[in-house]
Amino acid sequence: MALHVVIMAAGKGTRMKSNRPKVLHRLGGRPLLQHVLDTAAALRAAQTLVITGHGADEVEAFVADRGVRCVRQMPQLGTGHAIQQVVPHLPDGEGTVLILNGDVPLIREATAAALASACADKALALLTVELADPSGYGRIVRGPDDGVMGIVEHKDATPEQRAIREIYTGIMAAPLPALKRWVMALTNDNAQREYYLTDIVAMAVAEGVPVLAQGVADDTEVLGVNSPLQLAELERRLQRRLAEAQMEAGVRLADPARFDVRGTLSCGEDVEIDVGCVFEGTVRVGSGVSIGAHCMIRDAEIGDGAVIHPFTHVEGARIGAGALVGPYARLRPGAELGPEVHIGNFVEVKNSTLGPGAKANHLAYLGDATVGARVNFGAGSITANYDGANKHRTVIEDDVHVGSNCVLVAPVTIGVGATIAGGSTIARPAPAGQLTVARARQLSVPTWKRPQKAKKA
Ligand code: UD1
Ligand code: CA
Repeated sequence: MALHVVIMAAGKGTRMKSNRPKVLHRLGGRPLLQHVLDTAAALRAAQTLVITGHGADEVEAFVADRGVRCVRQMPQLGTGHAIQQVVPHLPDGEGTVLILNGDVPLIREATAAALASACADKALALLTVELADPSGYGRIVRGPDDGVMGIVEHKDATPEQRAIREIYTGIMAAPLPALKRWVMALTNDNAQREYYLTDIVAMAVAEGVPVLAQGVADDTEVLGVNSPLQLAELERRLQRRLAEAQMEAGVRLADPARFDVRGTLSCGEDVEIDVGCVFEGTVRVGSGVSIGAHCMIRDAEIGDGAVIHPFTHVEGARIGAGALVGPYARLRPGAELGPEVHIGNFVEVKNSTLGPGAKANHLAYLGDATVGARVNFGAGSITANYDGANKHRTVIEDDVHVGSNCVLVAPVTIGVGATIAGGSTIARPAPAGQLTVARARQLSVPTWKRPQKAKKA
């Protein structure tokens, strides 16, 4: 069976009230269309065609290099007219055409594959669902023997037909040669003056081609996005799916309703995640990790047994096993924390490596620094890595103790086991093992008197 996937994505999406084409709005961090393209790719179709129209330039730029072909539909005269545009791009001979929608992102691969199998180059297979409120949708009209007779669009339906709750989801699989023939025979003789793809159902029935209605149990799979509200509702449903998958794998989420993944999150055993955390990009979490409330974690690797305290921001960082980070810490790209490192509140780390057991527990900045094992970096101390034009490195060797409120002016090296006195500004190398003090000597003035307020005359 040669499978051809057609993704309809020419519609305007007026209700989004956005300049961005609807199918490029993001769900779970990825454009709606990307979700559908991923499903199509999983089906290993012979080819995938995307029908573009509104915002075609942007949509086509997005799909470029994704191994699919775009076909423009200008103007947009209905779903049947859309499929007419792809006819010249479909080969001769047998095959199955699976029609998906760019704005129906959560169709499961298994559901789409089952629909294509139901068609099997011969039958017209429709994906349907029963809705409590079917208004707006095309209704599945069945005959006396319960067989599908056709689809009637809401605007063309009689009051009796409008009472039908079984609707067409917009997803179907059709035999290739018959589909071509049917769509070329469509007319726009209806309430909307559109070429309705759904009119091919009656044509199939008239030709004696079997028409199958395949129901879908989980309506999340067939919900479309037409408005910001629907996008947000679908986002919650997607996040619920992702949360359940994490919990099935053993992750303990404090609340599956307050959990967001916009990318891929993989977790080891015994991971606990408190409420309000957002994971973006690719995040790998080791075993026994605990992540506190309201952390934002993007493109990161977190080692076994690490604890991320609440309100911590991590991006492009690697956190070693047993490390403690936060609360209110910020790890920026290139932060590499060794095992058992402690990064405390209001500490920012950027493009710096910290050796095993190094600590910066309060109010500090480490940028472009190489920090050795067991270093203690005092409260309020910073690496001055930027001279106004270029960035320079600070090297702090093993077992260094940097007191509070120090400025290490890069490029500079602090030797093994050195101690830097609090309040020092260090602009030259500090020798290993010694105490280096770089601040004004303390002075007391015994004769000093506080100024008095001048007496009024
Ligand atoms: C269509 C179906 C309806 C079904 C509903 C499910 C038809 C005539 N009706 O309704 O039975 O219940 O979907 O959501 O097919 N599109 C194009 N070009 C066009 C028109 C639409 O590419 O000229 C695309 C849209 O971008 C969208 C999809 O086709 O991805 C469906 O269009 P939409 O207008 O949302 O559906 P309806 O026609 O209202
Ligand atoms: Ca329409």
